[in-house]
Amino acid sequence: MFSKYKKPDAKSAPAAPVEIIDNIAAFEEKKPAANSARRKALKPAAAAPIDKEVKRKQRMSDIKLELHRALLDNLNLAALEHATEQDLRQEINEISAEILAEKSIVLNREDRMTLNSELYDEVTGLGPLETLLKDETVNDILVNGPQQIFVEREGKLELTDVTFKDERHLLRIIDKIVSAVGRRVDESNPYVDARLQDGSRFNAMVPPVAVDGSLVSIRKFKKDKLGIDDLVNFGAFTEEMAAYLQAAVATRLNVIVSGGTGSGKTTTLNALSSFIDNAERILTIEDTAELQLQQTHVGRMESRPPNVEGKGEVSPRDCLKNALRMRPDRIIVGETRGEEVIDMLQAMNTGHDGSMTTIHANSARDGVSRLENMIAMAGIEMPLKAVRSQISSAVNLIVQASRLQDGSRRMTSITEITGMEGDVISMQEIFRYQRVGLTPDNKIIGHFTATGVRSHYAERFRMWGYDLPSSIYEPVAAQ
Ligand SMILES: Nc1ncnc2c1ncn2[C@@H]1O[C@H](COP(=O)(O)OP(=O)(O)OP(=O)(O)O)[C@@H](O)[C@H]1O
Ligand SMILES: [Mg+2]
Repeated sequence: MFSKYKKPDAKSAPAAPVEIIDNIAAFEEKKPAANSARRKALKPAAAAPIDKEVKRKQRMSDIKLELHRALLDNLNLAALEHATEQDLRQEINEISAEILAEKSIVLNREDRMTLNSELYDEVTGLGPLETLLKDETVNDILVNGPQQIFVEREGKLELTDVTFKDERHLLRIIDKIVSAVGRRVDESNPYVDARLQDGSRFNAMVPPVAVDGSLVSIRKFKKDKLGIDDLVNFGAFTEEMAAYLQAAVATRLNVIVSGGTGSGKTTTLNALSSFIDNAERILTIEDTAELQLQQTHVGRMESRPPNVEGKGEVSPRDCLKNALRMRPDRIIVGETRGEEVIDMLQAMNTGHDGSMTTIHANSARDGVSRLENMIAMAGIEMPLKAVRSQISSAVNLIVQASRLQDGSRRMTSITEITGMEGDVISMQEIFRYQRVGLTPDNKIIGHFTATGVRSHYAERFRMWGYDLPSSIYEPVAAQ
């Protein structure tokens, strides 16, 4: 026991007086009868099982915390790094059995197994977050202080019964995550972005800026990103739209995916990239590397915020400037939100056709305004007409991703930029999602349709061998 991983100087905790408890529920029943009678008198009878369950959890959580402390005291953490999972689980089981025996706590098999697996998660992973990270149906994990954790499943937010013991516990897990990537989070650096080992995107903000306890947001990394076929199957867009998008990407139109937070922009961008020819050299630039391109020739870059001393920043713009010297065929920027917009538009205008990015905007028109604003904020003094002309010649297509009120994510519009008319950028919508109503259980009723406008790029598609039938541009009548 304690053979490999126990600290040589670790002392066992002094044994407590022996009291055998059969399981957690039995432990509860051992509490003074007067108290429990008073509790019973105060609470309606129906609430009793829930009360018991909450107490059981609380007790488990207390035991876990105690055991965790004892484990950390006992384990040689440096040796742990090289331990196999099996070894480590075995060791934790043994140490916890020993400590439980010392403390005279007897758990039933199921409680013991849960406890040991939670202890394993505490020691090696992210504690209470670990089960949610493993849950394939969860997309986002949102922590609002230690006692409230929401998850997003199928576009809908739901409150979980997972909690942290207290703010210190939550802070310890946050600290573990950020220190693993060489960052720090404290009062003077109250927020931080990081990427978890499994690729998930992580953001945390700690008190006092976060008023009611630390705020954590995790966008889970999906090993199998949704592809074009999945998205068609999910009703995110139609096969006709997919055929059109294939032609657009393959013939190297410059595409912007626009959408709100969590609307599916990155997913769409990733799916669109599958239409890029395998022979091309693609460079990707992201804040947190999320894209998973299928091509062989991909160079991935991740921008970096300044460190604690305010040094070492590598901005998306720096990456982009450097990318232009790296002989890219296409450049994909995960999200354009600042001054890198200038270089992005220039790249799109000067021989890197087929580049793609995403922006936060609610419609194609709004997306163009966002680009104009970003250029203005970057301090470029150019007449508005010149700015628009730059945008209109750089961007060919704006694809709008939306998360609708029923949680479904759809491509609600595909709009082409066709040039300038006077001072105004001219656009034409080719496909849209037509909403017609709501079902009694608040599901959106609607359908995709072409607008009847033929693509401005139809001839280009044909020349490149993507001869789309004219029927795909015909509007679909509502069923
Ligand atoms: N059509 C879809 N159907 C079901 N789930 C989807 C769909 N599109 C995206 N998702 C899921 O929704 C979540 C958010 O998607 P994504 O990361 O692409 O959004 P985003 O707009 O890039 O978000 P952010 O603004 O935070 O960068 C992901 O977990 C993704 O797998
Ligand atoms: Mg994204």
